Amino acid sequence: MSRPLAHATVEAEFAAPAFQQELPLLQRYLTVRDTSMQICAPLAVEDHSLQPMPDASPAKWHLAHTTWFFETFLLSEYMQEFRPFHPAFRNLFNSYYNAVGDRPLRALRHVLSRPSLEEVHAYRIYVDEAMVHLLSLELPSAARDLLALGMNHEQQHQELIVTDVKNGLWANPLRPAYRIKPQHATPTHTNAAASLEWHSFADGVYSVGFEGAGFGFDNEGPRHKVYLEAFRLASRLVTNGEYLDFMRDGGYSNARLWLSDGWDCIRNNQWMAPLYWEQRDGQWWNYTLEGMQPLQLSEPVCHVSFYEADAFARWAGARLASEFEWEVAARSCPVAGNFLESGALHPQAAGHTESPAQMFGDAWEWTASPYVAYPGFKPAAGAVGEYNGKFMCNQMVLRGGSCATPQSHIRASYRNFFPPHARWQFMGVRLANGD
Ligand SMILES: [Fe+2]
Repeated sequence: MSRPLAHATVEAEFAAPAFQQELPLLQRYLTVRDTSMQICAPLAVEDHSLQPMPDASPAKWHLAHTTWFFETFLLSEYMQEFRPFHPAFRNLFNSYYNAVGDRPLRALRHVLSRPSLEEVHAYRIYVDEAMVHLLSLELPSAARDLLALGMNHEQQHQELIVTDVKNGLWANPLRPAYRIKPQHATPTHTNAAASLEWHSFADGVYSVGFEGAGFGFDNEGPRHKVYLEAFRLASRLVTNGEYLDFMRDGGYSNARLWLSDGWDCIRNNQWMAPLYWEQRDGQWWNYTLEGMQPLQLSEPVCHVSFYEADAFARWAGARLASEFEWEVAARSCPVAGNFLESGALHPQAAGHTESPAQMFGDAWEWTASPYVAYPGFKPAAGAVGEYNGKFMCNQMVLRGGSCATPQSHIRASYRNFFPPHARWQFMGVRLANGD
């Protein structure tokens, strides 16, 4: 009889504390920092160094880089007596900020066996103690803005830890689980998803983009007007069952359904199904953070590229929504759903709702919109101006967040972006159409 792998024998509970905007600043900071550690808690030390592909970074790197952000942009700038934990870390854990200096190649983050995980944990504690002191001081508004950016930055990396760890563990032929499902967890599937219906939206001039109190990334603004033709949006995400129909209808071998780049991509990579799907003895299985599971037809399909989302929509006689159609529809929906805090770490089947279901959480929704600047966009001054603006080329916008997104991190104007071939994030499909 085979024995379960050591790190999966202990039932791992994952329950990120709710992050509420109304909490005092210090408590919000500490909650964000603690959530990153909780996400890594089920990992073996060796798991922290996995980098199965250049796009995915090791968990240890994420833990260090998010700490580096506070050290570099806040403590070094706003706390006179602060001394860096280690002078080499300024370059070592820089991701892409040319204004800060050099950094190791992204694809080689896995070679950083030193500093050890223990040292990275000590780095986090050192910076957190300094941050507690900094937050006891009267801070200028620029520093408070950087603090908000730093916390949102760490929340982005929390999602990346989940998706990068998933990819890293899946790359192991043993397909080890990240955790064993907590016994009290809600079921990860229901027998059927709600039937697909269409919600209609009138043509007209709409204002889109971030405005108001609270945090928004620079790429969400300026708020501006767009004209939309009348359109319809599907009431829920496309399911695994519907995607399987597309596959069984020869979707992956019918060139007419695909954009030219997409056709090249699936042929070059020999893609015949979403990432993490595997056929065993005629049955489809799906790699999840709880290991290989039988494919649940009612759950939203995810881990598909923009190309696959686009081809599926064409096969279904529909299209993907533009990011502005999505945003207009999302405004009437509560920011509620299956987020990181639910602990499911997997998309769930849609229930029946009055407004479009699953607009927030479950899976990011590919849109038909290229990631470009809004009219009047200006990157922030200084190094953090490199955060979003310089990536506005060759990427598509995704909206709505996923089961790995912290709830307080997402809003209707939020713009995520990835290249059209990317699949390792929780990326799904919602259909749209003309009226
Ligand atoms: Fe980062």
